[in-house]
Amino acid sequence: MESLPLRFFKEINNWDTVIFIYNSALKEIGTKIDILNDEFQHRHRYNPIEHVKSRIKAPESIVKKLKKRGYETSIENMVKYINDIAGIRIICSFTSDIYKIAEMIANQNDLKVLSIKDYIKYPKESGYQSYHMIVTVPIFLSDSVIDTKVEIQIRTIAQDFWATLEHKIYYKFEGNAPDYISRELRECAKIISYLDERMLRLTDVILESKKTDVS
Ligand code: GTP
Ligand code: MG
Repeated sequence: MESLPLRFFKEINNWDTVIFIYNSALKEIGTKIDILNDEFQHRHRYNPIEHVKSRIKAPESIVKKLKKRGYETSIENMVKYINDIAGIRIICSFTSDIYKIAEMIANQNDLKVLSIKDYIKYPKESGYQSYHMIVTVPIFLSDSVIDTKVEIQIRTIAQDFWATLEHKIYYKFEGNAPDYISRELRECAKIISYLDERMLRLTDVILESKKTDVS
């Protein structure tokens, strides 16, 4: 099987083709996630996924990231060094769902997991919590197969709420938010993980009582 970026240099050298490949990767992963969610609903009458968002990184952001890391702007460099050109975000209700989904994704034979960052077990300094995977998915073209990188972020509704607000604040202050705001965000992050834990305990109680109802 061929993989990016080797084949890229030979044949794929224009922007539209690159974006077409990454869009195809998003479709493939999106379908896999839909099927996992449907199967869960079918077998357990329960949906682990609240919703899914996907996006292709804007050209300006790709160029900015390459520059920041000291690479020249080229298709070769973007394919090699930028792991989140295709990004998909899976929002779950509970942290336990996150690990279930991550395991189900990792177990798919055609996907390769390149890296995992568990910012739920090890939150970032900012307070950020989320589970990240970089995977490759094979894209079957008429005459070849191309392994394509996708960044998957999996988080709870509460973690997503926090990350969205923190992101807005980060941009508003261009990364230099006043101390009291950063402190407040870290405090909110703690409250959120406490909330997620308590909500999980509650749903476990409900699931347990359903089991005893049936027996
Ligand atoms: P980036 O160069 O920012 O993509 O980071 P990275 O290559 O070190 O990877 P990492 O897994 O740490 O972060 C990937 C993505 O997670 C980022 O592009 C953001 O979408 C998200 N992220 C990481 N840290 C934070 C954070 O502190 N706040 C928020 N809101 N999002 C974050
Ligand atoms: Mg990113």
